[in-house]
Amino acid sequence: MDAENAGAVVVPLPEPRLEPAAGLLDRLAGDELAVASVGDAVADLIDDAWLDELADGLAGPAWVEMDLSARLPVGLIDALRHEVEILHKTEAMKRAGVGRGADLVKDRSIRRDKIAWLAGFSAPQAELFGFFDRLREGLNQRLFLGLKRYEAHYATYQPGDFYKNHLDSFRGRASRVVSLVLYLNEDWGLEDGGELRVYSPEGTSAVGLVRPQAGRAVLFLSEEVPHEVLQARRTRYSVACWFRQDEVPLPL
Ligand code: OGA
Ligand code: MN
Repeated sequence: MDAENAGAVVVPLPEPRLEPAAGLLDRLAGDELAVASVGDAVADLIDDAWLDELADGLAGPAWVEMDLSARLPVGLIDALRHEVEILHKTEAMKRAGVGRGADLVKDRSIRRDKIAWLAGFSAPQAELFGFFDRLREGLNQRLFLGLKRYEAHYATYQPGDFYKNHLDSFRGRASRVVSLVLYLNEDWGLEDGGELRVYSPEGTSAVGLVRPQAGRAVLFLSEEVPHEVLQARRTRYSVACWFRQDEVPLPL
């Protein structure tokens, strides 16, 4: 199965092999104790006040910029960057598409990134999934979003690559509800381009510009916040995650 994502006029095809992270962690750790310790490490870093802030951001402007460097386990961002660099160098990243199923098109005029889905099997991915789980719970408790699972992929943009203005999900489909993008790039300068530009709900005026510096992240409502990735001038690494309301992918 190749990659897909939503553009402004398409609905993303969910990736069937992705499962709720709890199941993955169970299999990975083999016992309850190990699962609990991943959760505990993350719980210390994600406090209620911070979750309140994120929920207020989603309920208000619908997007929040965050610094996750102190919220994620020490070394995790470096470990994730190391993984994606290897995937990139071994050409394991696949060209991303727009649309779903038979309509999936690899339109290089809309997006030019390459992606690789995360399955949670490596230690850094399991830690990251622990973080996503905690966040999913915290947002559900505060916003009653009924987020049931998530899917996540690495993305690389090479010099010249971009992703034009789009929404991550169609309104009312209750598929992708909350988007999160975590950046993995050290020493990202203004000259490196590749910023995430966030637009007002009508998609007309820019309301934010986020530099894809390691540890920075954005969280936003997938159906509400148009955004684009400006042309990168250096290889740009990130993880994108979508929290979803559906238990299983919608039929075509
Ligand atoms: C996406 C996306 C933003 C970014 O993958 O849908 O909009 O900054 N990514 O990488
Ligand atoms: Mn997007």
